[in-house]
Amino acid sequence: MRLQFLFFKFTSKHETKFFAAKSLTVIYMSESAIKIQNLNKKFEDKLAVENLNLEVAKGELFGLLGPNGAGKTTTINILCGLIKPTSGTVQIHGFDVQNDTQKVKELIGVCIQETAIYPYLSGKENLELFGKLYGMNKKAIKERSNLLLNKMGLADDAKRVTAKYSGGMKRRLSLALAFIHDPQIAFLDEPTVAMDPQSRHAVWDFIKEQKNKGKTIVLTTHYMEEAQELCDRVGIIDHGKLIALGVPSELIAKNHVKNLEEVFIQLTGRNIREEL
Ligand SMILES: Nc1ncnc2c1ncn2[C@@H]1O[C@H](COP(=O)(O)OP(=O)(O)O)[C@@H](O)[C@H]1O
Ligand SMILES: [Mg+2]
Repeated sequence: MRLQFLFFKFTSKHETKFFAAKSLTVIYMSESAIKIQNLNKKFEDKLAVENLNLEVAKGELFGLLGPNGAGKTTTINILCGLIKPTSGTVQIHGFDVQNDTQKVKELIGVCIQETAIYPYLSGKENLELFGKLYGMNKKAIKERSNLLLNKMGLADDAKRVTAKYSGGMKRRLSLALAFIHDPQIAFLDEPTVAMDPQSRHAVWDFIKEQKNKGKTIVLTTHYMEEAQELCDRVGIIDHGKLIALGVPSELIAKNHVKNLEEVFIQLTGRNIREEL
């Protein structure tokens, strides 16, 4: 569809104006990495996501914040095509997550909340397996695995079976797996849960590095300082609803408070930490 517009623009000289206008639409669309429209997810009688409308720009580092049960994981799982919405649509680089699954898979990397790694394989073997699933060649898999194992501080443990890894190490390996094919967009659900402060800072550095390379990242967190440190923009969700959206410093200033944690209190009358 989009290519057709561009094609016409270059071949049909008589209608330059009309087609130039169309091509502007194309450019605008392609700037948005993720477009969520009227998204709802109902589990039996529980509305986990309620009428979510949101766009994330290419190259943006976006944080979804909220207490336990707010709907963060449900939203992320819909965005990456793991579960179906009850209604509404999600587009990734203009491709529909429900209908253009192959295209979307090529574009995204996912680190889900329930760490999904093979316990009887080593860290290195897990990375090799994922690399093969993405159709990467041996050389690329080796280079990329070595780089990611180093970045995640797992180089010394690369050959140990992951069943013996600590929770934090499993989490770091999950992150490495999400990035094995160098995706344009990464969805990271609570990326630093169960990590010691040193690992957490290493992961923050890695995420910032990905952003500096122009990647789009959506992460969820209930660590407000993590969101403040990393995110260009945040969306705060509570009971499945987006209750605030913006640049962290602007949300803080607008609510006349000192940090994002206080923004949540200001908006809900509750402390996000009481609910963890
Ligand atoms: N598979 C499911 N079946 C029924 N309810 C679910 C399911 N997954 C999530 N929920 C409910 O949806 C709400 C949002 O959950 P979730 O997205 O996991 O929140 P968060 O990640 O913000 O902690 C919660 O009330 C949760 O109990
Ligand atoms: Mg969750």
